[in-house]
Amino acid sequence: MIAGGRPLSGRVRVGGAKNAALPILGATLLTGEPCTVRDLPNLTDIDVMRNILRALGARVEVFGSSTTVEAKHLTSQTVPEHLMREMRSSIIVMGALLARFGRVKVSQPGGCAIGSRPIDLHLKGLKELGAEITERHGYIIAECDRLRGASIHLDFPSVGATENIMMAATLAEGQTVITNAAKEPEIVDLQNFINSLGAKIKGAGTDTIRIEGVEKLHGADYSVIPDRIVAGTYIIAGAITGGNIVVENVIPEHLDSLLAKLREMGVELDVKGDSVAVSAQHPLRAIDSLRTLPYPGFPTDLQAPMMALLCLASGTSIVTETVFESRFKHVDELRRMGANIKVNERTAVIKGVPTLSSATVAATDLRAGAALVLAGLAADGITIVEDVHHIYRGYDNLEDDLRSLGARIERIGG
Ligand code: UD1
Repeated sequence: MIAGGRPLSGRVRVGGAKNAALPILGATLLTGEPCTVRDLPNLTDIDVMRNILRALGARVEVFGSSTTVEAKHLTSQTVPEHLMREMRSSIIVMGALLARFGRVKVSQPGGCAIGSRPIDLHLKGLKELGAEITERHGYIIAECDRLRGASIHLDFPSVGATENIMMAATLAEGQTVITNAAKEPEIVDLQNFINSLGAKIKGAGTDTIRIEGVEKLHGADYSVIPDRIVAGTYIIAGAITGGNIVVENVIPEHLDSLLAKLREMGVELDVKGDSVAVSAQHPLRAIDSLRTLPYPGFPTDLQAPMMALLCLASGTSIVTETVFESRFKHVDELRRMGANIKVNERTAVIKGVPTLSSATVAATDLRAGAALVLAGLAADGITIVEDVHHIYRGYDNLEDDLRSLGARIERIGG
């Protein structure tokens, strides 16, 4: 429940990145020695990943925002179906398990309902490393002796496929080269983590990643990078409320594409070290064209939050979603709050309105939910956002953080 219409002010600190933490926790399966991963966000998806590691037989201990994993004696190479269904990222343990144990069984993964999200690129890459893959009764079984390095070209720079192939190739015999690799900062973080275990990976952050296979890895102590999508959401919260806030623990270059678009709209941004000061006075200007793209393009995960802001900009904005095919579920809900948006396939045309009005709306997925909270912060009156469990998959402290900036927001119900 949000009582909107108050400009936010103050400082807020961003925690560790979910999308870096998940593959890094998966990569702890590459070694039998203990790995401590720090700065983990407190999210249901992170719990699911810890439960997957436990179900495989790893020892998992949680100390505040740190987790220690020791995958010395694994008892299973099958990821339980109920855990696979809870989150798409569960697929990320495939490469590591296959590389270390020569066998893995998973079911088709679940996740946010934002498109069909196939895993063909993951499986194609693992096959090229020498895995035999069979798909039966909704399960995927991959088997191999030792994986062999290969040259793998991805048809699309998939984040998950790049991560899975990187992990598998770490323990393969010889060199693997991934071309048209995803360049997201989370891939660089995964490279840095696996290298801290003794792996030889170079090139993450560019479109060519080279992995020299090694026989064995050791343990490590590692802190994940801050979450650029949470940072971006808070920066937009400052702008949408016409507020004046400072977002701390940010790696500003991870947000270049967002910051450029916000400046185009007239939002004032002052970047100093690891903090971004945001101030905005409405009306902001519309944006002619915003296209989501793989990194360093505009992140699809910030498309919905940005659309909430564009609803209040003066003029007409055009947003094209190129990464996922059905990621406009927030549009109907924003319309309920008075937004003027027309959608034609993957393009949304947004005519700015002077104000949004409060309403009862429902979060259909994680980032759509964040967009509705942002809209609620700007709208006059009381907005109720339902189905907020989606939001807690990606934001661990949303109400507390927003309250610390002066928002009136409460979690009601279960
Ligand atoms: C990751 C992020 C997610 C983000 C997305 C794109 C995690 C845990 N999640 O998801 O928040 O929205 O990157 O930045 O890091 N595709 C295929 N075949 C495949 C794999 C992907 O066709 O084998 C397609 C997908 O359907 C989608 C596009 O490629 O249309 C992007 O997917 P991908 O980059 O793999 O995203 P995820 O790793 O699932």
